[in-house]
Amino acid sequence: MNLKKENILIVDDNYDMLALLQRHLKKLKYHTYKASSVNEAIEVLKYTTIDLLITDLNMPNINGIELIRYSEEHYPAMLKLVITGMPSIDNAVKAIKSGALDYLTKPFTADELYKAIQTSFERIKNTLEVSEISIFSNNENENDSLIIGRSDSFRDILETINRVKNNKVNILIEGESGTGKELIARAIHEKGLLAKMPFIAINCGGIAEGLIESELFGHVKGAFTGANESRVGLFQAASGGTIFLDEIGNAPMSFQTKLLRVLQEKEITKIGAVHPEKLNVRIIAATNNDLQQMVVDGTFREDLFYRINVVNIKTTPLRERKEDILPLVQNFLEKYSVEFNKPQIRIDEKVNEILLRYSWPGNIRELENIMQRLIIMSDELIEIKHVPEQLKYHIHEQYENFKSLKEYEKDQILRVLAAVDYNKTKAAKILQIDRKTLNLKIN
Ligand SMILES: Nc1ncnc2c1ncn2[C@@H]1O[C@H](COP(=O)(O)OP(=O)(O)OP(=O)(O)O)[C@@H](O)[C@H]1O
Ligand SMILES: [Mg+2]
Repeated sequence: MNLKKENILIVDDNYDMLALLQRHLKKLKYHTYKASSVNEAIEVLKYTTIDLLITDLNMPNINGIELIRYSEEHYPAMLKLVITGMPSIDNAVKAIKSGALDYLTKPFTADELYKAIQTSFERIKNTLEVSEISIFSNNENENDSLIIGRSDSFRDILETINRVKNNKVNILIEGESGTGKELIARAIHEKGLLAKMPFIAINCGGIAEGLIESELFGHVKGAFTGANESRVGLFQAASGGTIFLDEIGNAPMSFQTKLLRVLQEKEITKIGAVHPEKLNVRIIAATNNDLQQMVVDGTFREDLFYRINVVNIKTTPLRERKEDILPLVQNFLEKYSVEFNKPQIRIDEKVNEILLRYSWPGNIRELENIMQRLIIMSDELIEIKHVPEQLKYHIHEQYENFKSLKEYEKDQILRVLAAVDYNKTKAAKILQIDRKTLNLKIN
């Protein structure tokens, strides 16, 4: 795609900001249009085809969120980017929920602006799909299935969800504990064609070996001692929908073998039944084990691995996508402050900093638990004193690696001396101290 011919509309009540943006954009050879208020912007939109809207959020009279909402309704295909003066995630999240693709925080560099524009245009191909799903909920239960994230790796996953949701290909989701594997599986189901059909989750390590067959496939009355009633198995219960095989790495060998047969033959036979029944389900499996290694070790069947691993989704640990942390914090804050009846609660910036630095070994589940705890423990403001010690401890660890000023001074003097071949006069000049002081310090 030729990036240079796009029309961009910039909206900001600050004329200096408008001028600066226009200078940047002209250098990049975009056609730019300016507006200093939402009303002016709406006028421009009426008469021009704009590809990308870049708007400030805080403006007098009507603010940028309203403009995003308006253009979502009237120009859904137009790309939308917001700029926010206050580094308030709150507003940014609102903007993104209203249809913006991304946000930039002032002040930003020309480079950051360029990157944000470029990624917006790169996403033009699947904008409609991505913006539809990047933050979504199923209608009945607004907060329950919100999927939040803005990192590249997270966006890749959303794109894959979009690609697979409408067909019945088998999917394997791999990733650390608490990274949202089950949430992704449910999203694929709920967003796609099978949404109205059942979604059945099975914990593959949790069924007693002797019961596996009757649990999965059911039995007819009198099939074995104690089978007083016939029973529908989980596979039949999921008929037409999705079976989620959670913790597939924990499935005992006998389970694996039975599963493989089902996947190969696409039919099941109830215990005690004469005729098999056709099976029509989509399989999504999840694991936090390294299945490929298990295949090598001989603890997981290779043929089963290839059957389920048709599409592969790998979740990224939270510590490797830190840009998702604050949007998640904000989401949990909104969700649980309502649930715990503290709708006014706020979070201290310093606490955000700690949350950003922590390594989150338990990933999003751990973050969610911590947020619940923080909300319960505080009244109006979540402060450092409410934060559990283990989170702060990680920071102290990092602080321990910091050097003292004296050590920095020593390093710097040695570097300068080396650079000037140990000519002390030159070194003293560069360091802006006299020779005597330098000699003292060297000693
Ligand atoms: N992107 C996300 N946005 C919002 N909430 C999320 C997100 N990802 C995960 N969560 C929440 O984090 C918690 C853990 O997610 P989930 O149970 O899907 O993880 P998992 O990978 O299946 O973990 P495990 O391997 O331990 O079973 C859930 O409460 C889920 O709703
Ligand atoms: Mg899980």
